[in-house]
Amino acid sequence: MKNELVLILDFGGQYNQLIARRVRECNVYSEVVPFDISIEKIKEKNPKGIIFTGGPASVYGENSPKCNPEIFNLNIPILGICYGMQLMTNTLGGKVARAAKREYGTIDVNIDNTSLLFKNFNSHNIFLMSHTDYVELLPDGFKNIGSTPSCPNAAIENIEKNLYGIQFHPEVNNSVNGTQVIKNFLFDVCKCTGDWQISSFVDESIKNLKTKIGDKKALCALSGGVDSSVAAVLLNKAIGKNLTCIFVDHGLLRKNEGDEVEDIFRNQFDINLIRVNAKDRFLNKLASVTDPEKKRKIIGEEFIRVFEEEAKKIGAVDFLVQGTIYPDVIESGLGKSSVIKSHHNVGGLPDYVDFKEIVEPLRDLFKDEVRKTGLELGIPENLVFRQPFPGPGLAIRIIGDITDDKLNILKEADSIFREEIANAGLNKNINQYFAVLTNLKSVGVMGDERTYDYTIALRAVETTDFMTGIWSKIPYEVLEKVSSRIVNEVSHVNRVVYDITSKPPATIEWE
Ligand code: XMP
Repeated sequence: MKNELVLILDFGGQYNQLIARRVRECNVYSEVVPFDISIEKIKEKNPKGIIFTGGPASVYGENSPKCNPEIFNLNIPILGICYGMQLMTNTLGGKVARAAKREYGTIDVNIDNTSLLFKNFNSHNIFLMSHTDYVELLPDGFKNIGSTPSCPNAAIENIEKNLYGIQFHPEVNNSVNGTQVIKNFLFDVCKCTGDWQISSFVDESIKNLKTKIGDKKALCALSGGVDSSVAAVLLNKAIGKNLTCIFVDHGLLRKNEGDEVEDIFRNQFDINLIRVNAKDRFLNKLASVTDPEKKRKIIGEEFIRVFEEEAKKIGAVDFLVQGTIYPDVIESGLGKSSVIKSHHNVGGLPDYVDFKEIVEPLRDLFKDEVRKTGLELGIPENLVFRQPFPGPGLAIRIIGDITDDKLNILKEADSIFREEIANAGLNKNINQYFAVLTNLKSVGVMGDERTYDYTIALRAVETTDFMTGIWSKIPYEVLEKVSSRIVNEVSHVNRVVYDITSKPPATIEWE
């Protein structure tokens, strides 16, 4: 059975992914497509509704993105957001004007709650506005259903044709009840039923993978990260032992992580797993290397080499499994081309693996949906909700050159930090937290002895996008416990400091 679909035409707005996510959160499957998608393609996809995103252009600008005007004759409900509303107005004969000054911020919008779009709303609601152009004259057949003092046409509708336009952004959290506007469009205007569920996605994917792969062979590089783990388990449910996973353990994972990954995949899921313990090989290549970018490059390349060598032993396979997810697809150009996701983005696609086709079972899912899929498949929560961990692993958390001894010091200190954060119940609030082995040695005193040992830095940030973030205000008692445990339990550490820098100006990782 095919799910109901809502198409999101992308006009370059910064919130396009968010719109798609909001729609899916309402259990309606959505896809982001380029604004110039052909009418034939739209007909083929047969959507229940279409949403135009915002965008930075002005409809009067040279080369401003325009969709095929035929779209308005397809009898499919359309919701235009911001630029999308202005384009709808401009194409259908209304007038868009330029305000002297950009309007930005959350604004009280006066709305007509007799409109289907604003069902269940009061007559006023706070929404986020971010625009310079505005709709001055409505096209024929349209009526005003919302305004603010500086934006007379903040919302418009043409009931007969099921066309709606809003100047504000219902998809962002700053808009109060924004999702309700999207829900009203989906369920009252488009008459969707809300049939998109992760469980049906899982069943459907397994069925499709079975048909596609049959009894042919597939190979998957497993890192222990969320995406590749979920992809592997999905494939395993579909083709069982015809899937082989190669887990390249570079030795730079956190304490016990390699064994945990092996245990889950070998014992819980009975997956055909080859674990390559390649720590020595990686450490040899990294000996005396101090430059962070060089470390990344070496690890990325070595990962590919180890993977290739193992793959060669297996011989030709039909499919190579990649854990590409939807944001990778959108960011790489609106589904026109696809990013080949390498192991944690550190390397590239192996050159010499003999395969015919790539399978990307998660390429339609957002990260939170990948996590839901993982839970649905029975992957343990601690893996599914694992905090982000960089592909080059602890190598970029040891400042300066890397040795086995330093690696062990860091693993122990990091493990204590994580344990205490969990004990304090802070693990759900802090999005990324870890220890860093600084290259700094300082003088200390233990018993009656002078020590000259390493300084461990603790890093903890709160962020949603990992592009910006604030340092976490961990209670002093927790920091005190962590510090005391680290200096007492980890040899060669005599000082612990806490990083109180936000991003920007600092980055989350130290290298
Ligand atoms: P920064 O340090 O740039 O980190 O503030 C932002 C996020 O990216 C992760 N990160 C990496 N992930 N390979 C990865 O797969 C890398 O080389 C890498 N460097 C940073 C970092 O852990 C944080 O979540």
